[in-house]
Amino acid sequence: MHREWTIPVGDGLREMAMKTEEEEILAGLMAAKKHLPSKFFYDETGSKLFEQITRLEEYYPTRTDKSILEQNAGELMQGIEGASLVELGSGDCSKISILLQALPRETLKTLTYVPVDVSMSAMEESRCNLQERFGAIQVSGIVTDFMQQIHPVSQYENRVFCFFGSTIGNLERRDAVRFVGKLGHLMETGERLLLGLDMVKDKAVLEKAYNDEKDVTARFNKNILSVANKIIGTDFEPDYFRHHAFFDEEQQRIEMHLVATRDMTVRSPLFEGNLEIRKGETIHTENSHKFTSDHIGKFASFSGLSVRAAYTDSNRWFTLVDYIK
Ligand code: AVJ
Repeated sequence: MHREWTIPVGDGLREMAMKTEEEEILAGLMAAKKHLPSKFFYDETGSKLFEQITRLEEYYPTRTDKSILEQNAGELMQGIEGASLVELGSGDCSKISILLQALPRETLKTLTYVPVDVSMSAMEESRCNLQERFGAIQVSGIVTDFMQQIHPVSQYENRVFCFFGSTIGNLERRDAVRFVGKLGHLMETGERLLLGLDMVKDKAVLEKAYNDEKDVTARFNKNILSVANKIIGTDFEPDYFRHHAFFDEEQQRIEMHLVATRDMTVRSPLFEGNLEIRKGETIHTENSHKFTSDHIGKFASFSGLSVRAAYTDSNRWFTLVDYIK
């Protein structure tokens, strides 16, 4: 995604003009190097496929992120009374549940949980009904593209922002720094940000995680074309593409592409003419940046936040950073 964040103005934040979903998809397909924003993976089918990915043997991030939360829930939730837990990219809400499980009922009663997600279908999952599971907690969800529009969270106080799962890795490096910077600017003194980061590691481990045996990731990748078909009325045939995911050592990121396996013509009522795609041409669908300790410090220095603590697993494959303003 190539977004520019604006600088804070007065006491609010000026949001950049938002493109419509149609415009975003069209712009990506018309570009010299075709690409689609990775947020479009997550329709109902895509959200289900992603949940399948998180349970794959090869896909270590979710498991590792959760193990860090489990190991450190007590410490992370110290002094949490009265807080609003604002989770960006809440998905199936299974991560926040790990933290809530560690809390007594009297504490839960004082909390508000604000799940924020681009996907309505993920948010509607019964598992997100934490009110049922944890009784006392107040829940009010927000469906928005929080990368573009973060202001709905301003009505809450005493916030702990939770951004787990290394979703921030989907942003270009500079956009990631700007995004944390923007959060840092809107945060009040004493508010926290729990940021999950997938760390740079052995290339073979990384590439296996995005090339699973069961081809769930391949199906997840191709599903973005069905989403495009729904939004702009294209007639993409997902099976005319091959899943391609690799680790780019220079940029320290996994790139996912769809490679055309034949020449094809794609139509849409929103196109001027037809879209001709040649065999071998690729559509870039995702970047998943990996991080080092340098990035942890960089996020802090560009956002006015301090690192309170950083938690990792025995392999040091994943890090959960606890930032405070
Ligand atoms: C949800 C962005 C963290 O980058 O690992 C999983 C998405 N893509 N397999 C990731 C994803 C392919 C995932 N994030």
